[in-house]
Amino acid sequence: MPDAVKVGFVPFSAPARGTLIVFCDDALKFGATATKALGVAIATVKRAAAASQFKGKSGSALDLLAPEGLKVDRLIVVGAGKATAIKDYDLLKLGGAVAGKIGAGDQTVTVIGELPGGAMKPEQAAALASGIRLRAYKFDRYKTKKKDDEAGSVNASVSIAVADPAAAKKAFTPDGHVVDGVILARELVNEPPNVLYPEEFAKRAAQLKKLGVEVQILDVKAMTQLKMGALLGVSQGSAHPGRTVIMRWNGGKKNEQPLAFVGKGVCFDTGGISIKPSASMEDMKGDMGGAACVVGLMHALAARKAKVNVVGAIGLVENMPDGNAQRPGDIVTSMSGQTIEIINTDAEGRLVLADVLWYVAQKHKPKFMVDLATLTGAIMVALGTEYAGLFSNNDQLAERLTTVGEATGEKVWRMPLGPEYDKQIDSQFADMKNTGSRNGGSITAAQFLQRFVDGTPWAHLDIAGTAMGAPKNDINQSWGSGYGVRLLNQLVAEYYEAKK
Ligand code: BES
Ligand code: MN
Ligand code: ZN
Repeated sequence: MPDAVKVGFVPFSAPARGTLIVFCDDALKFGATATKALGVAIATVKRAAAASQFKGKSGSALDLLAPEGLKVDRLIVVGAGKATAIKDYDLLKLGGAVAGKIGAGDQTVTVIGELPGGAMKPEQAAALASGIRLRAYKFDRYKTKKKDDEAGSVNASVSIAVADPAAAKKAFTPDGHVVDGVILARELVNEPPNVLYPEEFAKRAAQLKKLGVEVQILDVKAMTQLKMGALLGVSQGSAHPGRTVIMRWNGGKKNEQPLAFVGKGVCFDTGGISIKPSASMEDMKGDMGGAACVVGLMHALAARKAKVNVVGAIGLVENMPDGNAQRPGDIVTSMSGQTIEIINTDAEGRLVLADVLWYVAQKHKPKFMVDLATLTGAIMVALGTEYAGLFSNNDQLAERLTTVGEATGEKVWRMPLGPEYDKQIDSQFADMKNTGSRNGGSITAAQFLQRFVDGTPWAHLDIAGTAMGAPKNDINQSWGSGYGVRLLNQLVAEYYEAKK
């Protein structure tokens, strides 16, 4: 099980066994319930805190085994920082800090759901629970043996003690579906490319039918009929045929225009004939992080029955060098009718997205389209792994994405677009070429995409730095991060979903 931690809510009471977790602020102050649960053991805690210089800094922890004066086997005091400045994202991180302390030896864990300033609200307890689950996720499906020094799997049952368990449970129901969506996206990114090739990816996306999502799979024949020459050109060098998957969730009013999310799904990117160097090429199994996010997002929205119409579309290919692979110099005709001169077969993501964006704009006439793609190495040069690059033809959409990015911690940083950049991808032989110059590589890639949105309000997220291989943090310890699921779920919830 990738996600073996169970999280539930119980009424406040001092546990008689297992592991007890309580929070304190940065002045070592506890709330009323925690104080009561600690009882006489508070003196032990103060002594231990002094001995280990524990000050209650956010995310830090004090660990006491067989604590004197308590029945539990282990007491963990986790610092929550300044009591006044705690936002929902901080609770997610706090949950992560909690899960980071739970080891293979902890089976029954009780967390007192109280901040030093008072009892957690149901939404706060739900965010804490989400953080615990997100942090505990581990991709170890292919490990058949465990080394002696390797930490055993966490397999704990965590109860968060709150004033109103039913209210917390209710708040956590939609959030739990979002966590499931993030974990699904991580699973897809982490899977090896011999397992997860386009057809298999399409099958996994088709599982969303169980949640009431309509799923349509376009095979090579269907894509040929649609004249998706840009996508097909990328995939023609692979033994694995490409697929485009269209998912539709109809949770809104019948004739309401849908929102659309489009993902780059290059299941493996060798670079093709413009082959990549071998160092770290294995990372290119994650070049479908955009598509993984779209599937995870559709899962989240459908499972929590979001009141909105949404289209998710993913272009799935494998970019391989082969006798049948496309060459630099080839000219392909995209579904839009625009022709593209291939300069570099490694600039394949934009070719895949060109046809999928065009298809979605024409067939679904969405209110807006947001695409996600591990599109350029250059975005990492610009922004590192902390922010995704945001490009947009629509200020309102860009501002909304920036706002939800700050709130969810899945941050985006807006980058420029403009005719001077666009000019760089004009070609002497075709309508355009698939690369610009080396400088501003993420921008010319975005300019290329913009030529296929047909005026639709659109935003492009370059997630090459954030979807995979980003440093481990409080709420993600896995290679694949599931970046974008929480961001876009929040965008939908905050601005586009009909409120009950
Ligand atoms: N999938 C890569 C971008 C990438 C690189 C993602 C590293 C994650 C980590 C993309 O298809 C690519 O190869 N882009 C080229 C574009 C260039 C040929 C214009 C790049 O960034 O070098
Ligand atoms: Mn490439
Ligand atoms: Zn790629």
